[in-house]
Amino acid sequence: MSNRPLNVGLVGGGKGAFIVHPHQKAIHFDGTRRVIAGALFPDPKIALEEAAQWPYPIRGYGSYDDMIGAQAGLPAGEKLDYILIVTPNFVHFDPAMKALDAGIPVFCEKPLTVNLEEAEAIVRKVREKQIPFGVAHTYLGHWTSRFSRYIVRAGLLGEVRWVDAYYLQGWLATKLEDTGQQQASWRVDPKKAGGSGCGGDIGTHALMQLRYVTGLDVTELSAHLEVFVKGRAIDDHFTTYCRLSNGARALVRASQISIGHLNDLGLEVNGTQGTLRWRQEEPEAVTISLMGQPDRVYYRGAVSPGDGFLPKDVPADLMAEPTIPAGHPEAFHDAFARLHRCFEADVRNFQAGKPFQCDGSKYASVEDGWMGMAFIKTAIESHARQGAWTRMPMLG
Ligand SMILES: NC(=O)c1ccc[n+]([C@@H]2O[C@H](COP(=O)([O-])OP(=O)(O)OC[C@H]3O[C@@H](n4cnc5c(N)ncnc54)[C@H](O)[C@@H]3O)[C@@H](O)[C@H]2O)c1
Repeated sequence: MSNRPLNVGLVGGGKGAFIVHPHQKAIHFDGTRRVIAGALFPDPKIALEEAAQWPYPIRGYGSYDDMIGAQAGLPAGEKLDYILIVTPNFVHFDPAMKALDAGIPVFCEKPLTVNLEEAEAIVRKVREKQIPFGVAHTYLGHWTSRFSRYIVRAGLLGEVRWVDAYYLQGWLATKLEDTGQQQASWRVDPKKAGGSGCGGDIGTHALMQLRYVTGLDVTELSAHLEVFVKGRAIDDHFTTYCRLSNGARALVRASQISIGHLNDLGLEVNGTQGTLRWRQEEPEAVTISLMGQPDRVYYRGAVSPGDGFLPKDVPADLMAEPTIPAGHPEAFHDAFARLHRCFEADVRNFQAGKPFQCDGSKYASVEDGWMGMAFIKTAIESHARQGAWTRMPMLG
């Protein structure tokens, strides 16, 4: 296998953009991937100017159509190995479909699209083309998310009874969009964000964390989508009470008006034998509580299988995944890097004609992206009927 770094092209990321920056750091994290091109802005002239000002040389394009269209004429080592889509939600579908049609793997920001129909079309395209596709649910990339997944799925907490999955923020507690703040402006516009503001933006992260760790799906839900800040067209507070596929219950909730909360994504899983607690603002620790025993706090890199709670046979690949010794904290950028590292492995296998995973075990799959959109659609329908229990659709 070639040790040439993979070439990544950016869709979005110019002028005041946010999430492109953690991504581009994560892409360069291991030296095995690099950003070489970008279509950074909707206006072609500004897109080229922004590319010329990028902190290291990249090939600028006036549009993602140009960037994708140019690939066929490039020599092998200069083509893009994957594209990263970091545009607002309404500009995910078109570049994703065009890249897939051109045979280029795609790593796409969440939520996958602005509606379920688009998500379904992307799933169909990925299945038809058999091309790697990942969705950037950042927090799955924390080692502690992998570890939590192992603990719950190995049954170490017994049968799951109840899950509280939440993502609380306070940054939209006032009408920030009226100041022209870039990230707020498109997030409150249903045409650009989708039918749910808060739910689509961060409720989907809470749902993904629940599904990733427990392996359970939401089968039915009752939702309330609130608008607390006057004049907003879509929710800034989002609450769903859910039935899960094993019969357990869950709250999946999100808020952008909870002053005092920054990026307070957390998961609590109550099983018949114990409880697991995790918060992304302290992403190095997982707390386990068993009846009648003091809490155990597990830190990444300082875990000893066979300690009386963990069995001896904790999977070797999980134990090997930390990148630095315990106590040198990993955080947000490391989580993104772990996602890109795992996506890289799938892209390299794809290029070598070998089987690749894209199965949701290392990063969110296209089906996970679809599930996020199905959840949002179902929540909107339930809310429209005063929170009536509403069944989630199934992906064929
Ligand atoms: N995974 C996470 O933790 C996380 C965090 C924040 C945002 N996001 C997601 O990332 C995406 C971007 O969010 P953001 O906060 O960085 O937005 P942003 O507004 O900061 O950046 C979006 C960028 O896309 C560019 N853009 C818009 N239309 C374009 C087009 N047609 N062609 C090229 N560029 C175009 C904008 O000019 C801007 O540079 C959203 O889907 C959001 O939900 C994910």
